[in-house]
Amino acid sequence: MSHLFQPYTFSPEGKTPRLQLDNRLIVAPMCQYSAEHGLASDWHLSHWTNLLNSGASMLIIEATGVTPEGRITPGCLGLWDSKSEDALGHALARARKLAPDNVKVCIQLAHAGRKGSSAAPWQGGQLIGPDQGGWRPIGPSAIPQIPGEDTPREMNLQDLQNVREAFANAAKRALRIGVDAIELHAAHGYLLHEFLSPIANQRSDAYGGSLENRMRFPLEVFEAVRQVTPGVLGVRVSASDWVDNGLTPEEVAVFAQQLKRHDCDYIHVSSGGVSSNQAIPNEPLYQVAFAKLIKNESKLPTIAVGLITEPAQAESILANGDADMIALARAFLFNPRWGWHAAAELGGTVQGNERYWRCLPSSARGIFGGISIGKR
Ligand SMILES: Cc1cc2nc3c(=O)[nH]c(=O)nc-3n(C[C@H](O)[C@H](O)[C@H](O)COP(=O)(O)O)c2cc1C
Repeated sequence: MSHLFQPYTFSPEGKTPRLQLDNRLIVAPMCQYSAEHGLASDWHLSHWTNLLNSGASMLIIEATGVTPEGRITPGCLGLWDSKSEDALGHALARARKLAPDNVKVCIQLAHAGRKGSSAAPWQGGQLIGPDQGGWRPIGPSAIPQIPGEDTPREMNLQDLQNVREAFANAAKRALRIGVDAIELHAAHGYLLHEFLSPIANQRSDAYGGSLENRMRFPLEVFEAVRQVTPGVLGVRVSASDWVDNGLTPEEVAVFAQQLKRHDCDYIHVSSGGVSSNQAIPNEPLYQVAFAKLIKNESKLPTIAVGLITEPAQAESILANGDADMIALARAFLFNPRWGWHAAAELGGTVQGNERYWRCLPSSARGIFGGISIGKR
């Protein structure tokens, strides 16, 4: 029996199980830069509907700003007031109506920190000013992401309080619109990663310096969200900055241990994003060793991600015990039915809309084992 198509239950020690996934395949969060003033659009409806019909058991919605200046670009999704809550809730409810019953939805809550106020990738990704719809970003220290760029404003204690509250409020809104799980974005050089990394955090107060101090703010944010989130709450990390004197996998493993003590449900292991000098080896499975290390050190349920493109690769990561779940991003854009192909290759089953069953000869339709009909 395929490992990838085994169910997974988030079941913290000593507590009642929080969520069951039909399989271990997850759609990684992907910004779409398609919101206006943070509001979800028809593009989100289409994108989510497509990916909810991918064979993955859970879709993680893109980095969603907990404040307007916490967005990466002016086109990024937001969840900071009743208008953005309504727009997101409406698009999500419509997408879910067009998807199999059991597919779960997680949302990645995020603050972009010093990487906020950027142009979309296809417009160059550079920092933009107020004349182009941008704003002055904030960060742990007044150090720009790229030398020569405008410096972010160093956050004061009131800013820290505001951001903690913004994360907790966004989590309440997310739960109100019916998401099944929440992921905090502490990766890719955005605010929570910036606090963890000595590259972006050179504070001299209780929030900078030692690893204990650098972990303090991300752990406070986690705690603030945990207090309002009874269900699954995970964290995405960058396990390495890929530069000298940057954040190391061993430090991130310590952070993961701390998260486990704070009742974290999973850790999602990515890397990079904080330094323009990063040297990332773009090769298959390049982040799996980080997932393995962090899983072993923290015993947290672990998602591996990053250039996993073949079903056999996903299967062997799980069979080796290097991670508990597998997330894919770009492969799902290229082939939104990646999960169906994987089920056919590995002998698994997926829920699939009956209108599409004829994509396979009747002899091969056994992959649609978990079909549910009735609500459409
Ligand atoms: C279009 C696009 C948007 C992305 N947006 C996000 C995001 O919102 N949050 C995040 O943590 N990572 C984001 N990522 C990174 C992916 O989640 C993933 O970690 C990365 O692409 C590596 O996985 P892959 O090799 O399967 O694509 C994005 C990647 C792509 C291609």
